[in-house]
Amino acid sequence: MRKILFVLALGYAVAAQAATALSAADAAAASELAKNSGCLSCHAVSEKIVGPAYTKVAEKYRDDKDAVATLTQSIQYGSKGKWGRIPMPAHPSLNADDIKTLARWVLSFDK
Ligand code: HEC
Repeated sequence: MRKILFVLALGYAVAAQAATALSAADAAAASELAKNSGCLSCHAVSEKIVGPAYTKVAEKYRDDKDAVATLTQSIQYGSKGKWGRIPMPAHPSLNADDIKTLARWVLSFDK
């Protein structure tokens, strides 16, 4: 019984990680997408510029199972009041797939 529980727990951990983990190729593509979409003029991975560091965003949403949906909304429609006084503008020209990729990429910076 204990062994079964252990296997189940392990399976869950792997599945949970797969929900946010990106392959190296996906991460490289997402990074390029972020650069081309202007994200990196306001954000950096590990320090605050205008917007929060992506490591901080990933840390804040670590245990939030709706994180991808929440961040997708924020990127698409903009966000204000969650991190400080400066709002993030909406990104209406990005398509839904790209926005989701960006959300998962941001969440991948949790250490
Ligand atoms: C003009 C500057 C600016 C640009 C461009 C920008 N951001 Fe932001 N971003 C911000 C600010 C400021 C915040 C904090 C907003 C708040 O306090 O709610 C933020 C917050 C976020 C958050 C956290 C949202 C949340 O719900 O907690 C994510 C994720 C994010 N940005 C990703 C992106 C991505 C991806 C792009 C490119 C498509 C991008 N940002 C472009 C300024 C910017």
